[in-house]
Amino acid sequence: MSGIPHDHYEPKTGIEKAINSRLPIIGLIYDTLMIPTPKNLNWMWIWGIVLAFCLGLQIVTGIVLVMHYTPQVDLAFASVEHIMRDVNGGHMLRYLHANGASLFFFAVYLHIFRGLYYGSYKTPREITWIIGMIIYLLMMATGFMGYVLPWGQMSFWGATVITGLFGAIPFIGEPIQTWLLGGPAVDNATLNRFFSLHYLLPFVIAGLVIVHIWAFHHTGNNNPAGIDVRKGSKAEAEKDTLPFWPYFVIKDLFALGIVLIGFFAVVGFMPNFLGHPDNYIEANPLSTPAHIVPEWYFLPFYAILRAFTADVWAVQAVSFLTGGIVDAKFFGVLAMFGAIIAMALVPWLDTSSVRSGKYRPSFKWWFWLLAVDFVVLMWVGAMPTDGIYPYISLIGATYWFAYFFVILPLLGVIEKPAPLPATIEEDFASHYPGAAE
Ligand code: HEM
Repeated sequence: MSGIPHDHYEPKTGIEKAINSRLPIIGLIYDTLMIPTPKNLNWMWIWGIVLAFCLGLQIVTGIVLVMHYTPQVDLAFASVEHIMRDVNGGHMLRYLHANGASLFFFAVYLHIFRGLYYGSYKTPREITWIIGMIIYLLMMATGFMGYVLPWGQMSFWGATVITGLFGAIPFIGEPIQTWLLGGPAVDNATLNRFFSLHYLLPFVIAGLVIVHIWAFHHTGNNNPAGIDVRKGSKAEAEKDTLPFWPYFVIKDLFALGIVLIGFFAVVGFMPNFLGHPDNYIEANPLSTPAHIVPEWYFLPFYAILRAFTADVWAVQAVSFLTGGIVDAKFFGVLAMFGAIIAMALVPWLDTSSVRSGKYRPSFKWWFWLLAVDFVVLMWVGAMPTDGIYPYISLIGATYWFAYFFVILPLLGVIEKPAPLPATIEEDFASHYPGAAE
């Protein structure tokens, strides 16, 4: 595969030869497991496996939940209570699924920020990155629609607020909103279609994950040094890599075990910590909760949505220039989607020829500021919209855009990178001087 050394599978026994000549599936599995992997991968390369585990967990627990759940507005809330109280192990199943979504997003954010730091999005891994971004958008859609299913107060009002954003699009917004909801407001038709799509999308994600993995298996993994595996000779290339099995399988499973200790501690001892108590009140279209707060994993982008109020001069200027077509609400919606698009475009916005942030002295600072910015936005997204909070949201949102559209393009031109190690082998040896290989 693209210059990386690879002892391809050779069928040996008669039966292997017979199967292989008809369907080369053993070879596919063998080649996937034995793929040469840069030996200097650090602990930030475990999140892909954690994500794959989460996807499997969500599909399995979800399918069993559906056996007891009813997507009908008069029965949905009661059917979830039935799962919690009457179904054998039902509360565990539901808590695994609800907290599984949180672990999924926790892992995806670390996976994305790993990519942002080590430049995994850069040539030749742009397609891996873009597929990842599509997966992330689908994860958000799936998470959002899943949260509506228990038909609690936050389910109903969260769905009302978020689908209301589409109504902010000039001219075509309202028809789009009605089409999404299946009627003029969040109701039975909405619950039905959200249920249908919530069930479907994880399988679409699973298909995309296969393409994602196919893409980085073709280019080879990036690694903390951000340099390529040597392609000169097979012997040289093999000094930079190790087969995925058993080395990385064991490492990944060990890491997954540690992550799962934390996960089961939350599921077992504080299963509602990340949820909102109002979602244990059945949906009531006549009573709006005091604060409508999305799930924690949406908060950074929710903060960006709310940052651009009618008081902000940029909003006023755009509104004036567009004759009022782009009002504050629509500006907020554009900013929220724009913040994700900015991330998707990063392979083309980062102009540096050096991949890994480890060797980029100024980049490091800006990167860590972005990571802090993300956490601050997450915090401020759950705060009220008065006092100092709107200013914090605005500064946070502005930095997000500045990082992608100004700082990254400029840094590549003005920054002087530190010297890179000559080979992956050398980088590995500098970390493990005692290791024989
Ligand atoms: C269901 C969600 C996802 C799964 C199961 C998944 C799985 C994986 C796996 C197993 C790897 C290789 C090992 C590792 O780096 O941990 C990987 C690499 C990668 N992922 Fe994901 N991923 C997901 C979502 C994403 C998202 C949302 C992005 C961001 C855009 C992304 C970007 C990347 C990149 C750039 C690489 C290449 C890194 C390298 O070559 O070392 N992935 N992914």
